[in-house]
Parts: sequence; C-alpha cells; structure tokens
Amino acid sequence: MLVEAAFWRPDRLRGGVDDVLREPALAHYVTGWPRVGDLGVVAEVEHPVGAAWLRLFPADDPGYGFVDAGTPEVAMGVLPAWRGRGVGSDLLDALIVAARDAGSVTLSLSVEPDNSARRLYERFDFHQVGEVDGSLTMLLRL
Ligand SMILES: CC(C)(COP(=O)(O)OP(=O)(O)OC[C@H]1O[C@@H](n2cnc3c(N)ncnc32)[C@H](O)[C@@H]1OP(=O)(O)O)[C@@H](O)C(=O)NCCC(=O)NCCS
Repeated sequence: MLVEAAFWRPDRLRGGVDDVLREPALAHYVTGWPRVGDLGVVAEVEHPVGAAWLRLFPADDPGYGFVDAGTPEVAMGVLPAWRGRGVGSDLLDALIVAARDAGSVTLSLSVEPDNSARRLYERFDFHQVGEVDGSLTMLLRL
C-alpha cells in the first residue's frame, strides 16, 4: 500500500515494492514494522485492498508530514480498483479511533495539493499547518 501512496499520480510512471524500499525517505514508513508506536488498519476483501497506518518519526529522520516527535504521521493507500468506494474513509475512521485509544492527541500527514486525497483529509478535519516543497502538511487534533 506504500507503493500505492508513493505512486499516486495515474499519469506518472509507476514503481514497485523494490523502488520504495530502495528510497530511504519512503522505506522508513514501513521498515522494521512493528516499532513502538506503530499502528495500522487493513481493509480486506478476501485479500488486502487498502491500508492506513501511523508511525512516529524522530526529528532527525522526519517523514514528509513531520510536525513533532510526538505526532504520528498517517500514510495510506487503496488499490486502484477499490478507490472512490468508501474504503479510504472507513480506514481513516478506524485509524482515528485506534489512535485516540492509543493516547495520541494529534495526527499529521503530507499531501500534494492536487491529490484528491486532500478533500478526504479535510472532510476528516485535518487542516493545513505548513507547506514543504509544495506539499501540504496537515494536522488533526483528536
Ligand atoms: C487517497 C485514498 C487512500 C482514498 O481512498 P478511497 O478508498 O479512494 O477513499 P474514499 O472512497 O473513501 O473516497 C474519499 C475521497 O477520496 C477521493 N479520492 C482520492 N483519490 C481518488 C481516486 N483515485 N478515485 C476516486 N476517489 C478518490 C474521492 O474523491 C473522495 O473525495 P470526497 O470525500 O470529497 O468524496 C485512495 O484514493 C488512494 O490510495 N489514492 C492513491 C494513494 C494516495 O494518494 N495516498 C495518499 C497520499 S497522501
């Protein structure tokens, strides 16, 4: 699902698992899973069709949506054939409940402004708190 998140633009060349694992800025969203503080949900229809997960990053190895070392960052992806059918909304719903139960008070993420996922995040009350290299950093207070 990290591949889906990393190569979200349908008009661009798509990479595979090896490509994301070779790129440290992408690989660190999943390497060594599960680490302390990691939390995730998977949507399955016989097989996994989507996932949303949280990871805490230290300030010296920040994710794209880094806000502070106490704010887990959201990553998510849904298989193309399953998009636009509510899977992402259900995943985000479940992830937010789990994050609250785990004691998180804020969640962050990074999204490119022209990704329609931005609307999804805004619907869940994420709001923009910064911009890094043209991508929006968004924050949700739980
Ligand atoms: C973003 C994503 C996880 C949302 O999952 P989803 O199952 O499509 O979500 P839903 O069906 O609940 O739709 C929620 C919103 O996502 C939007 N959306 C985003 N990408 C979409 C796509 N490719 N097809 C259809 N809808 C899409 C819908 O317009 C919908 O907007 P709305 O709430 O204003 O109606 C999924 O589209 C995806 O994997 N996209 C590619 C990877 C990506 O961009 N990841 C996030 C990186 S920040």
